[in-house]
Amino acid sequence: MVNNFSKNLVDWYARNLRDLPWRNTQNSYRIWLSEIILQQTRVIQGLPYYLKFIEKYPTVLKLAKAKEEEILKLWEGLGYYSRARNLHKAAIMVVEKYNGEFPTSYNNLIKLKGVGVYTASAVASFSSNEAVAVVDGNVYRVLSRIFGVFTPINSSEGQKEFKKIADSLLDTSNSANHNQAIMEFGALCCTPKKPKCLTCPFLKDCYSFNNNTIDILPIKLKKTKITIKYFFYLIIKVPNNTTYISRREKKGIWKHLYEFPLVVSEINLSSKQIIENFSELLSIEIPPNKVTLIKKLDKPHKLSHQHIYTTFFEYQYNGKIISDKFSNVAVNNLDNYPFPVLISNFKENYKF
Ligand code: ADE
Repeated sequence: MVNNFSKNLVDWYARNLRDLPWRNTQNSYRIWLSEIILQQTRVIQGLPYYLKFIEKYPTVLKLAKAKEEEILKLWEGLGYYSRARNLHKAAIMVVEKYNGEFPTSYNNLIKLKGVGVYTASAVASFSSNEAVAVVDGNVYRVLSRIFGVFTPINSSEGQKEFKKIADSLLDTSNSANHNQAIMEFGALCCTPKKPKCLTCPFLKDCYSFNNNTIDILPIKLKKTKITIKYFFYLIIKVPNNTTYISRREKKGIWKHLYEFPLVVSEINLSSKQIIENFSELLSIEIPPNKVTLIKKLDKPHKLSHQHIYTTFFEYQYNGKIISDKFSNVAVNNLDNYPFPVLISNFKENYKF
């Protein structure tokens, strides 16, 4: 049993907290923005995105009125672009349903697009001290280690069990601080690797410290099967300093982002096969000796279900591509389009 869990936790927090901008406000819109960004990335990487977003969209009304494409551009690099699209939809919903007043209660927050149990609990507790316990990856780790919980955190049984423990530990009169504290404790002290046990206030009572299970808890079932894909992009260089791009319309994490003409394969292809595929995709005849390999990335781009091996080719082309799918755009204008980070990184080092 761990005595005075919440008190020890918030005392630790008072001594160790990082000064982060979303912690100095009770504005539920800003807190929500920070939470959606932080679901996607670590604090250090998320901070500049948060600052950019609140500068450009200081109110939910401004965000609701923005163009989706502009939001995707600002989100570029964070990945999982459906979160950015949901951000926009949620803002529109707040304007239409709540008259622009961003909700602060769990029951209203959970109705917003892209807001799940974790985010609703975080925003409700941080903005209005509502007594709901947060359970995120940090909390799973802290609770599983301290209390010796071996139930897999991604099983429905585990989710219920951890929520129950988190609720039982919550100091309901101080839920904002308690919730921030438990996540900060997971992020800074009870870290995934090499936790700082010697400075931990729970050391004496920690199940994992006493039973040597720090490296095995929390337990997570491996569920997702990773598939391998080969992506071949073609950069078409037209002498008038234009190129061709298309917008992804298919469902998926890159929906509504832009890309260069792309051939996807589940097996690696020969140059001949790749060029044949490009010819078919663009409905033009591409002479094989006019296509050059520009860059083959050494490492796969890793998404949750897919590892993507990518190669970029270049083709100097004088003609026109007649297609609804591909737009002819000025090279100088490319930076105005949102691209998957896989392509943005390439663009940065490529001279048109
Ligand atoms: N990760 C998710 N939410 C967070 C928050 N409010 N502060 C720090 N890290 C977080």
